[in-house]
Amino acid sequence: MPLIEWSDDFSVGIETADIHHKKLISMINSLHQAMSNGTSHEVITKILSALLVYTDKHFKYEEDLFLTYNYPQYEEHKKEHDELLCQVEELNEKFKTSKTCISIEVMKFLKDWLKNHIQETDKQYTDFLNSKGVR
Ligand SMILES: [Fe+2]
Repeated sequence: MPLIEWSDDFSVGIETADIHHKKLISMINSLHQAMSNGTSHEVITKILSALLVYTDKHFKYEEDLFLTYNYPQYEEHKKEHDELLCQVEELNEKFKTSKTCISIEVMKFLKDWLKNHIQETDKQYTDFLNSKGVR
């Protein structure tokens, strides 16, 4: 069973952002599956690095939209992105340089940050961006 399942309450009303979020959910599910299957450290490191790269790319996509349309909550939103990215970077480094396993706590942390960020922070831009014609 996947750790997180996409449903309409994840939709932020912008097609590209929804596609990115679905991809992030699927990457976190892959990581969870790899963890449960006892997949090798090397494979898990690769998934985690890919998650980091994709998260960075996705955050930049949102931030570019905010700048283009002068989104009033740009600063707060970017701050949250920077903090999240920093946490995933730390996790990635820690995992790469040690032989530790991805724990249930780590999976819960990843799941919660994604879910909370999308459902609480990202959803705040829906009306604003939709009103600028971004869908
Ligand atoms: Fe965001």
